[in-house]
Amino acid sequence: MSTQVRLGIVGIGNMGSCHLDNIVAGKIGRLQVTAICDVVADKLKKHPTIAHFGDAGQMIRSGAIDALLICTPHYDHTTIGVDALAQGLHVLVEKPLSVHKADCARLIAAWDKRPKPSQVFAAMFNQRTDPHYIKLRSMIRGGELGEIRRINWIITDWFRTEAYYASGGWRATWKGEGGGVLTNQCPHNLDLMQWMFGMPTKVRAFAKFGAWHGIETEDAVTAYLDYANGASGVFVTTTGEAPGTNRLEVAAERGKIVIEDGKMTFTRNVTPMSEFSRTTTAAFSRPEVWHIDIPVHGHGGQHNEVLQNFTDAILDGKELIAPAQEGIHSVELGNAMILSSLLERTIDLPMDGAVYEQQLKKLIAESKFEKKTAKAAAASAEDFAKSNKK
Ligand SMILES: NC(=O)c1ccc[n+]([C@@H]2O[C@H](COP(=O)([O-])OP(=O)(O)OC[C@H]3O[C@@H](n4cnc5c(N)ncnc54)[C@H](O)[C@@H]3O)[C@@H](O)[C@H]2O)c1
Repeated sequence: MSTQVRLGIVGIGNMGSCHLDNIVAGKIGRLQVTAICDVVADKLKKHPTIAHFGDAGQMIRSGAIDALLICTPHYDHTTIGVDALAQGLHVLVEKPLSVHKADCARLIAAWDKRPKPSQVFAAMFNQRTDPHYIKLRSMIRGGELGEIRRINWIITDWFRTEAYYASGGWRATWKGEGGGVLTNQCPHNLDLMQWMFGMPTKVRAFAKFGAWHGIETEDAVTAYLDYANGASGVFVTTTGEAPGTNRLEVAAERGKIVIEDGKMTFTRNVTPMSEFSRTTTAAFSRPEVWHIDIPVHGHGGQHNEVLQNFTDAILDGKELIAPAQEGIHSVELGNAMILSSLLERTIDLPMDGAVYEQQLKKLIAESKFEKKTAKAAAASAEDFAKSNKK
C-alpha cells in the first residue's frame, strides 16, 4: 500500500499554479506533484525538477502519476477526464464538471464503466468546506428549519474586469468557455444551492449577454426557481457590479436564516408559520420570534481541504466532500438559466442535455464575436485564492 499519492496537474494557469504552489509548499499531507502539463511550455519552467509534459495524454500514460488534477479551461475537463478515468487514474476535476449537461453525462459514464471499487472521482467544490453552508445544510437536514418556503441568493460580488476577460482567449466566448458568469464563477453557488436545497423542478431566467463587459456570454442573470414542495427561489448574479452583495436568505416554517458578511443569523419562529396562521384567532398577530446569532467562524479550508480530502479518499477510503457525479447538477442549473433566457420560456427539470448541446453548437456556429486578448497583471496565489473565497 502506497503512503503517498503521486499527482499530475494539467493546466498550470491561475488555478493550476495556485494548487501547485500549495502542494509543493507541503500544505497537503501525503500528496506530491510528480508531473505537470501545459500546452504553453513557459508555464512549467518555474518547477524544473518536476516532470514536464505538453500533452495530457502523454502524462496520463507516463506511469509517473496515480492521480490527475484537471485545471484546464472547462471543455477539456470532459476529454481529459474521460481519458484519465479510462487509464485507471484517480481524478479531481476543477469546477464546472463540464460546460454542459451532455458532457457531464459523458464524463460520469466513463467513471461508471470502471470496475468497482474503482478510482476516486471528485470535483473541486471548495465552497462546500465553508462552515456557514455546512451549518445551514445540517440545519435543513436535521429538520431545524422545517419546510423551506423561499430561497433568495444575491451573489453579485463576483466582480471581474475587462482585463480579466482579456487575459485568456478562451474566456467568456461560446466556443472557448461555453458560458460566462454561470459557467465560470457561479458553479460554486449553484452547487451549494443543489447541495442544500435539492434541485428545482422549473427554471425561468433572464440573462443578459455582454451587458457590462465586451464579451459575448452572460454577465448578468436573474433567475426564478420553482421547487416541488411549492418553495420559490430567486438567484441574482453578475460580474459587473462593485462592491456587490453576497446575501443568502432562506425563509422556512421555523423562521428565517440570513448569511451575509461572514455572519449567520436565525430569526426563529417559536411556532411554525403555517401552524400559527391556521390556529391563531387574532387577525394581525404573528409568531413570536427569537433572534439567534449562529456562531460560525472563517471560511473553512477551501481548496486545500478538498485536496487533502481527495488524498485521504485515495489512501484511506475517506468519504468525499464533493463526489464528481454531483457536479452535473450545478451545470444543469446554469444551462437551464441560459436556455430559458435564449428561448424566453420556462425550462422543466430534469432538462434534456441534447437540446442544450444543440443550442450551444448553434451559438458557436453563429458567433461573429472577435475576442481581444491582453496579458493581465499577475496575481499572487494568495490574491487569487482570496478573490475566490466567499
Ligand atoms: N475552484 C476555484 O475556485 C476555481 C477558481 C478559478 C478557476 N477554476 C477553474 O480552473 C480552470 C482553469 O481556470 P484558470 O482561471 O486557471 O484558467 P487559465 O487560463 O489561467 O489557465 C488554464 C491553463 O490551461 C492550459 N491549457 C489549456 N488547454 C490545455 C490542454 N488541453 N492541455 C494542457 N494545458 C492546457 C493553458 O495554457 C493555461 O495555462 C477552469 O475550469 C476554472 O473554472 C476554479
